[in-house]
Amino acid sequence: MIKLDILYEGKAKILYETNVTNELIQFFKDDATAHNAQKLEIISSKGIINNYISEYIMNFLGKKGIYNHFIKRLNSREQLIRKVKIIPIEFVVRNFAFGSIIKRYNLSNEYKFKKPLIELFLKKDELNDPLINDDLIVELGWVTRSELENLKNKALIINKHLINLFNKINIELIDFKIEFGKTVYNNENKLILADEISPDNCRLWDKKTKKNFDKDIFRNNTGDLIEGYQEIIKRFKITIES
Ligand code: TMP
Repeated sequence: MIKLDILYEGKAKILYETNVTNELIQFFKDDATAHNAQKLEIISSKGIINNYISEYIMNFLGKKGIYNHFIKRLNSREQLIRKVKIIPIEFVVRNFAFGSIIKRYNLSNEYKFKKPLIELFLKKDELNDPLINDDLIVELGWVTRSELENLKNKALIINKHLINLFNKINIELIDFKIEFGKTVYNNENKLILADEISPDNCRLWDKKTKKNFDKDIFRNNTGDLIEGYQEIIKRFKITIES
């Protein structure tokens, strides 16, 4: 496996081409951004921790039948992944009302939704990732109506698995964001889970104390981000090789 040129650099990760068709290297940076990158800091070792946590979660979901882009972790900051064409839609699944939805609809904090709720956002920094609806997504042609329905169902299944996973370590999954991408698998076009799942894109609260171990620590300046993320590593009993 040879690492080639940068294909794409995002806020928290870099994707490199490799000499293998349809396989990329995903590098986790230490950059932390919030409020559409108005707040930016380098937080030493964040990338390493997210690499390990995302590996753990993608492997877990893979075993539950959620086929995803993760192939294997290569080292402390890099994973080998399947190349996908990312659909520019953020799928946010919410179990409890917190964050942007509270402001948008003046909801009360921590209100538990009767059923998990999905919100879709357009991935476009210049527009501040606006909320988007199904009709416009289909109109703009990224996915068909039935593909979108399938992805929303998949997001809800992922939610069920993640709730169970975090339940085991006494964490309440408040909400999370996932992304999907198009790939060719066994000569068929497939839509698969991609990107990462880590405390950067989930809200994770201790069930008893409601202390949070996620990126809100950075967004709201409420403490040491690494200490929070390390708590997730510790509870999952993940070993980070030095
Ligand atoms: P929100 O309450 O700010 O809309 O965020 C909902 C969830 O989605 C939360 O767990 C953080 C995550 N998220 C991302 O991972 N990336 C983003 O760009 C945004 C806006 C939210």
